[in-house]
Amino acid sequence: MHLGMSFVRPRTHSDYWLYATLFSPTCPVAIIDDDVVGAVIAFRSQDLPHEVYVQDVVTHPEHRGKGVARTLLATVNEYAIQHACTRMYLTSEPDNIVAHRTWLALGFVNIPGDRVEHGIEITTDVKGPGRDRAIYEIDLKHRKLDQPVLHSEVLG
Ligand SMILES: CC(C)(COP(=O)(O)OP(=O)(O)OC[C@H]1O[C@@H](n2cnc3c(N)ncnc32)[C@H](O)[C@@H]1OP(=O)(O)O)[C@@H](O)C(=O)NCCC(=O)NCCS
Repeated sequence: MHLGMSFVRPRTHSDYWLYATLFSPTCPVAIIDDDVVGAVIAFRSQDLPHEVYVQDVVTHPEHRGKGVARTLLATVNEYAIQHACTRMYLTSEPDNIVAHRTWLALGFVNIPGDRVEHGIEITTDVKGPGRDRAIYEIDLKHRKLDQPVLHSEVLG
């Protein structure tokens, strides 16, 4: 996960134990030749069970642009659909242009915020004071994430 810095901050081993043990259906990893090349940390909300929130998405720098994030998010999307979720969403930092392009390419919509920077809708204080974010969502009532193209090659 440290290869996703500075936009993704690595968490502790205990946190990853938690994700792998209690949330594995929404926390897939991509493996190529026994190496982990990507991971998604996502959760189905207990407060709003029809929603899945994607917390972290990281692809190893040497494997970017090959559909790893697309495949991992499609896996989470399938879980969301199977559990009748109606919304899948995530946030990214206002200056994360590559993430912005990735989410749009995958069918996420950048929902209106309270200002626009570099063409990206930004919402103030989404994740607490000073933690402004761009918010992206897929309305699962009307569409699903594009199907993966590399599923069998990527997932271990
Ligand atoms: C954002 C990130 C996860 C994308 O992962 P990836 O595995 O390279 O993405 P994919 O190959 O699955 O690309 C999916 C789509 O996004 C688009 N995309 C990906 N990288 C892009 C780039 N650098 N520029 C423009 N579009 C891009 C492509 O259009 C692609 O669609 P296509 O398959 O139709 O060509 C990766 O760049 C990353 O790990 N960045 C650092 C960590 C980070 O910022 N994570 C997000 C924090 S919220």
